[in-house]
Amino acid sequence: MSSPALPAAVPPPTLPHWEQTPDDLAAATREIKAALRARIAASGRTVEEVFAVVERRIQAEVDEITAARQRGETIWPVIDYPDIEAGTVPDEALSLLRRRGCLVVRGHFERTQALGWDRDILDYVGENRFFENYRGPADDFFSSVGSKPEIYPIYWSPAQMQARQDDRMARVQGFLNRQWKHESDGVRWFDPDRDSLYPDRIRRRPEGTTSGGLGTHLDPGNLDLWMTKAYQQAFRHLFDGTVEQYDPWDAAYRTDGPQYPGTTMCSVFRTFQGWTALSDMAHDQGVLHTVPIAGAMAYLMLRPLLADVPDDDMCGVTVNQTFPANGTWHPLLMQALSGIPDVRAGDSVWWHCDMIHSVAPVQNQQGWGNVMYIPAAPWCPRNEHYAASVRDAFITGSSPSDFPVEHYERTWTNRFQLDDLNHIGRRGFGLGL
Ligand SMILES: [Fe+2]
Repeated sequence: MSSPALPAAVPPPTLPHWEQTPDDLAAATREIKAALRARIAASGRTVEEVFAVVERRIQAEVDEITAARQRGETIWPVIDYPDIEAGTVPDEALSLLRRRGCLVVRGHFERTQALGWDRDILDYVGENRFFENYRGPADDFFSSVGSKPEIYPIYWSPAQMQARQDDRMARVQGFLNRQWKHESDGVRWFDPDRDSLYPDRIRRRPEGTTSGGLGTHLDPGNLDLWMTKAYQQAFRHLFDGTVEQYDPWDAAYRTDGPQYPGTTMCSVFRTFQGWTALSDMAHDQGVLHTVPIAGAMAYLMLRPLLADVPDDDMCGVTVNQTFPANGTWHPLLMQALSGIPDVRAGDSVWWHCDMIHSVAPVQNQQGWGNVMYIPAAPWCPRNEHYAASVRDAFITGSSPSDFPVEHYERTWTNRFQLDDLNHIGRRGFGLGL
């Protein structure tokens, strides 16, 4: 044994964690930031060095998107539904999806089917005198949109449920879920072939609308992303100096664990958020935008640790609000903000759950802007837990527990019924296999 002994490895410092919203947010923020800096420093790299790696990668993506835009290319990847059904999605399309983290599925449903659903929804709310009884927005977030019902707090129409439990929906969700690594370390984090039918609302934005849109934000959480044990494990590579190994498609530790409660929370794990178009929409009529860089979360999570951010500030992220992204702290990311291309009724639109998104302002909108929000929320402990409350809401026609307490549909007679559930619907609600 002539070689010199290696120095004993020093385990990196552990992180404090708060499984419920901390009482003193500023103190907890100071504490976790100091601990994260110390943990990264224990790897032998500084926060600045680690962030520089991320920034270079993001810069390369931004440059690529800028160049593609100048060449007149569509930034959002587009895949035709028949290719998903036949398993013939070209490799280049798959790699662009993994890189950009968002997707338009062309012809997900027949256009006539989608337009029929739009009419069915209008009939459903009309027969139940929704417009006469509408009490105004009850939501802290979407209420900024205006006082007219643009977001309908409607969850249980036959049209929505038919779309949620449709074979074509299940097939696209399975395809999207499989972009994620869902098994590792002997754990199956989620079942890519079983969706939990997360009930969400409808948007029907009429012609002639003038709207300020919605600012750039993210939906996966807020301070809990840094402060709970599960998310600290999910983002482990960002916090221990091995940032090169961070994989935005790794579901490990994301499918269980607590979230800090709030009025804008989403209790389930979504691989992708999404909506299905119920009208044709032109790309310049106040449509969805994203920062189409799948790995951007690394930038967003590490940015608050740099020295120019006050110790008690996470770049404006706080509880009970969506996670803001903006030109103050993230100007590089904002350069990549890109809108969807023109879509037709029956196309669907998807974006990775950690992705920055916004809705552009519009003046005197041409054509309708109608969508059903239907994400990909695969079966996992977190989603199974929420499914119990979804079942109750479905049976009683109530607003699901993630949403404002409005309950318009409780007395509506023609909502989707238990007997109307097919195999996909029953599995999604946890009502047997
Ligand atoms: Fe959002």
